[in-house]
Amino acid sequence: MTKNFKEFPYDDKTTHILLPERFETIEKPVTAIVIGAGRRGYVYGQFASQYPQQFDIIGVAEPNPIRNQRYATTHKIPAENCFLNWEDVFTRPRFADAVIIASPDRLHVGPCLAALKAGYHVLLEKPIAPSEEECRQILEASHASGKIVAVCHVLRYAPYFRKLRSLIRSGAIGELISIQHLEPIEHVHMTHSYVRGNWKNSTTTTPIILAKASHDLDILRWLVGKPCTAVHAFGGLRWFRQENAPEGSTHRCTDGCKVEEECPYSAIKIYHKLRERTYVFDLPEDKDAQGDYIMEQLRTTDYGRCVYRMDNDQPDHYVANLQFEGGVTASFSLQAFTSYEGRRTRVMGSHGDIVGDMTEMVITSFQNGKKEKWAETTDLHGGGDFRLMADFVMAVHANDPNMLTSTLEASIESHLMGFAAEKSRKEGIVVPVQC
Ligand SMILES: NC(=O)c1ccc[n+]([C@@H]2O[C@H](COP(=O)([O-])OP(=O)(O)OC[C@H]3O[C@@H](n4cnc5c(N)ncnc54)[C@H](O)[C@@H]3O)[C@@H](O)[C@H]2O)c1
Repeated sequence: MTKNFKEFPYDDKTTHILLPERFETIEKPVTAIVIGAGRRGYVYGQFASQYPQQFDIIGVAEPNPIRNQRYATTHKIPAENCFLNWEDVFTRPRFADAVIIASPDRLHVGPCLAALKAGYHVLLEKPIAPSEEECRQILEASHASGKIVAVCHVLRYAPYFRKLRSLIRSGAIGELISIQHLEPIEHVHMTHSYVRGNWKNSTTTTPIILAKASHDLDILRWLVGKPCTAVHAFGGLRWFRQENAPEGSTHRCTDGCKVEEECPYSAIKIYHKLRERTYVFDLPEDKDAQGDYIMEQLRTTDYGRCVYRMDNDQPDHYVANLQFEGGVTASFSLQAFTSYEGRRTRVMGSHGDIVGDMTEMVITSFQNGKKEKWAETTDLHGGGDFRLMADFVMAVHANDPNMLTSTLEASIESHLMGFAAEKSRKEGIVVPVQC
């Protein structure tokens, strides 16, 4: 039943992930159509390959012919269920239980509304939509349809954050007073996704506070357990700008750039030498051909362009202060310039504190000074990706949205917090959040 993860081109490491016993007892697979067979689409496909008795992908919509064909082959999808565009899926009457929307940020609203209208349950990648109005439109449509809409706020399903929340709820550190939360993007990841890559421009995708940090705002809201009432944010694009281009640098790293060798963002180094993040190129199977193929991509796509000469606008440093009902506060920091990834959280309570980094946390009691350590090593968003999928499959199977924690209703608040943060950052004012 278990397939080898090696066939999956993006993450070939995983660890044992315990899923609920109830999941294992599902006798007939929930069926789904995947819209967008990119990186996230593959993660959900990986889940289907691991748990074929519970979950079956029977349709795909993907304009990239290589991805479309690879996905169809891996999941044995019949030709009549392979589409080049999400709209084509809905020209047919409903033929699966659910639709998974893993298309680019600006292509969530259309497929989500169409899927609900056609009677599908929906697993919707975050961010829900680029504007508050569209988020509310989706919420209304989900109410009218009575179907499940789960948002991929996968961190809610990660054991680390679940543990953190249950400790806070149990009073292990007394009353919750404040949280300090850091999302270190890591400098190369920043350039790959938010300077050169798909999310480089907020006007064609979504602002980074949603594209990268809707998870963090959602987790803060979830940990505090009360609505956010106001936000105050600062930040901007400080470094990846034309005026910071080093002397001797060129439009592309392949154009004979004089500082290519010493530049931490050299595309030749990242993609060709180190072969990092090459999944974006859909590499040919033939390993001997891959090197030349990557160099050609660097000469022709945005991934080979100089990070100082892009049409990017996403902030590379962003701080937000949040106030919650009852007076709990949180400070959130989203930072490009780190040598490491992995969220760091400090929770301050009246009788103790918790310091954690997604792999372990230390709980200290102020009463007796005792320290307790909790640790777990998982991947795929701290084990959240597969647990979300298991909960979604169980919820669809039982037609019961209460089996999920990241329903649309629960997830939408983080987006309102994100829109408020953007308004605050741009206008220099404290912005109230009305949920
Ligand atoms: N939950 C998370 O932790 C998480 C992590 C990363 C990304 N995301 C979100 O998931 C979504 C997908 O991100 P990704 O990293 O997989 O991006 P990606 O670019 O790898 O994949 C998106 C895919 O959608 C396809 N697509 C484009 N137009 C389409 C259309 N008209 N119909 C159908 N498919 C179309 C693209 O060709 C591409 O293959 C984005 O909204 C992103 O912000 C969520």
